[in-house]
Amino acid sequence: MKILLTGAGGQIGHDLIGALAARGHEVVSTDLAPRPPSHAHAQAGKWRRLDVTDAGATLAVFEEHKPECVFHLAAILSASGEKNPKLAYDVNQTGTWNVLEACRQTGVSRLVFTSSIAVFGPPPSGPLPDPTPDDVALHPTTMYGVTKVAGELLCAYYTQKHGVDCRGVRFPGLISAAMPGGGSSDYALFMYVDAVRKGGYDAFARSDTRIPLMYMPDGVRALLEVAMADRAKLTRSIYNIAAFSPRADEIAASVQRVIPDAKFTYSPDPRRQAILDSWPKSLDDSAARNDWGWAHKYDLDGMTDDLIPRVRRMLELGAVLSTH
Ligand code: SER
Repeated sequence: MKILLTGAGGQIGHDLIGALAARGHEVVSTDLAPRPPSHAHAQAGKWRRLDVTDAGATLAVFEEHKPECVFHLAAILSASGEKNPKLAYDVNQTGTWNVLEACRQTGVSRLVFTSSIAVFGPPPSGPLPDPTPDDVALHPTTMYGVTKVAGELLCAYYTQKHGVDCRGVRFPGLISAAMPGGGSSDYALFMYVDAVRKGGYDAFARSDTRIPLMYMPDGVRALLEVAMADRAKLTRSIYNIAAFSPRADEIAASVQRVIPDAKFTYSPDPRRQAILDSWPKSLDDSAARNDWGWAHKYDLDGMTDDLIPRVRRMLELGAVLSTH
């Protein structure tokens, strides 16, 4: 299948490109930035510059490549988006509109949308239920979350009105040996990175912070599975998916199983802590499990065992990563 990715230079694209190519798909990767050096192992397919906020350029790239399926990954994440809400609105909201319109106008049959736990926020009536189901009132506290809610609704609209088959998942915080890009959940990966390179990490979150997390191989597999699922089996457009929900100090203990001397301290950053506290502690993903057989493979310790050697290799290859 011919597949186009937006935002291919980000943390998900890093792993998704290779997974698609390995399954024999023809991949066209697009991003505002050139192919990052860290994508060296994922040289598969073409790389095209694309700014999704530019409707004309988006349409032109779609017309040139005529993809059958699009994975729309381009987004400004929660912490970066609060620093620059206008940019988050332009990329996440206008960009999603432009991508949906390009799909409609060029006859793309399927769009895979990447939503997030950031669509949730504390409802006025009290805390979010734990676990949080798919259908609760959505009260996001970030521009990123606001635009992801709107993107989910646009996906359902384009499916009903225009026959663009949009489906997708609400990702937990994703962890992998690749540069994250301005998310509030990045503390979880940084616990691994700084444990390996500095022997410890001063986290920007409280020790009792608990949000849903997922290891990237499961996240990529979820995208592939929801993309290929039989439409007749889907009862909704966008699905909660879950893996594990550890407290920050439970992540620390998992790292210390492998790096016993690693030291962890906690200096919460009020801005990012408030975002983390607004998210669900865990997700109810029973609809994904029932409709398309979703099942995570990695638990926290399984991820730790696989991830630490990969983080070591990433650092040996000279990755420059700010963990602030
Ligand atoms: N990982 C994202 C963030 O922290 C949530 O989708 O913004």
